[in-house]
Amino acid sequence: MLSALQGSPDKPWSLSEVLSACDWHDQAQAVGSGQGLADAGLVSIDEKISAIWTLGDEGERAHADGLLEARLWNWLVAQPESARSMSDLNSSGFERHETGPGVGLLKGLGVEIIAGNLTFEGDATMVEALLAEKAGFLATLVEGVSEDSLESSMLAHFKGRKDLVVSSETVARFWTITASGQAVDSSALVEAAQIADITPELLQGDEWRSAEFKPYDVNLESANPMTGKAHPMQALIERIRSIFLEMGFSEISGNYVSSAGWNMDALFIPQDHPAREMQDTFYLDNPDSIEIEDEHLAAWQEIHEHGGDTGSLGWGGKFSSEIAQRGLLRTHTTVNTIRHLAENPKEPCRVFSIGRVFRKESIDRTHLPEFHQIEGIIMEPGANLPMLVTTLKTFYAKMGYPEVRVRPAYFPYTEPSLEVEIKWRGKWLELGGAGIFRPEVTEPLGCSAPVCAWGMGLERLAMLVLDLDDIRQLYISDLEWLRAQPIL
Ligand code: PHE
Repeated sequence: MLSALQGSPDKPWSLSEVLSACDWHDQAQAVGSGQGLADAGLVSIDEKISAIWTLGDEGERAHADGLLEARLWNWLVAQPESARSMSDLNSSGFERHETGPGVGLLKGLGVEIIAGNLTFEGDATMVEALLAEKAGFLATLVEGVSEDSLESSMLAHFKGRKDLVVSSETVARFWTITASGQAVDSSALVEAAQIADITPELLQGDEWRSAEFKPYDVNLESANPMTGKAHPMQALIERIRSIFLEMGFSEISGNYVSSAGWNMDALFIPQDHPAREMQDTFYLDNPDSIEIEDEHLAAWQEIHEHGGDTGSLGWGGKFSSEIAQRGLLRTHTTVNTIRHLAENPKEPCRVFSIGRVFRKESIDRTHLPEFHQIEGIIMEPGANLPMLVTTLKTFYAKMGYPEVRVRPAYFPYTEPSLEVEIKWRGKWLELGGAGIFRPEVTEPLGCSAPVCAWGMGLERLAMLVLDLDDIRQLYISDLEWLRAQPIL
């Protein structure tokens, strides 16, 4: 390559010129050799990035079936003058989403709407020439064309329309010999084979001792391998799981279906709390009631009505066992940690769970009716607030978010209660709640040691990790987006 380039000192060589001058067939060989020469200061590389335009989804449809304005125009000229009203158009078989923008496009061709009728007074041959030009433009894009060889006003027109044309970038490289490259006596160069692959055979022999190894260049462009990989949410769950395991926690799980009693009453959430209403919680018809052992019902009744032996006054009123036994889809994974405590009230523990929860939320950019929570507790003599805060800080630091702060909050089942926020791009974002379970929660379960507890949103965190501004992206299975996601 060096001696080829020395032949014409001031010329920038393109890839295809290098390939033919050297009689190579592999682009990677030219790019690699060029890079090697550039690293040694013998050539300079000039990269020209240009946009290549092809048809988008709509563009392909238009290329196959005709552009919307062409189809409308053909309809219009085939209609008798008396049947060119807007209502004729609306009943013509065009889709509703086509007629709206379609009228605008027809107006662009000179069609006017006079008293509800589409009328055209202009030169039809000019319109047809323009439509043919547009169709011709789309046809050239089938193969992909570089931006500088496209007619700019046509391109601007199609760029302004949805999904008709899409662009991607390509890099064209040119190599020019430098003064020091020119000074090298290429006849004195010896060809030395560089070893790129280290194989068992190579290592078993002696040849490697004197071999020259090709340096590994992590900056070289390479194709993205399209391999199977875990869904980003699943990968994130695995990462969170391994962080908690590494911090000495054990994992627990539970059912999606729960009674209101375990989901709420055990947490001292009053039976008339707004979050318990039908419009916030998915209650089930089947099972519409789930039996709870009498000892638990009796304990919760005592706590809710009078506060038990905790010194609390309770909520007053009358506790209903029917309400407690209603079936629902769990609204938070705090039900998992509560059940763990109920089953192991005296055993100090550090447990976490990552699971799906359900709330009647309307779907928008930041809400889904099904999402996940990262839940956990620490129960041991002496467990306290600093321990809770440190645990959460450690977790988020391991996730890559070292700036964490807590603010006072309120939950019916913790005291004190905290809101946990992390700093992201200069802003504080709320990711979940935490606190120390109230005696009204722990006493009926038979726990005597304090319990630090937290529940965090997983999707919120996923939005930060994956840099999303719409939570729905996580679940719409957009293959192109999924392929582009890094392996977490
Ligand atoms: N369950 C709360 C929620 O769903 C979070 C939380 C868990 C708060 C544990 C305090 C203690 O938002």
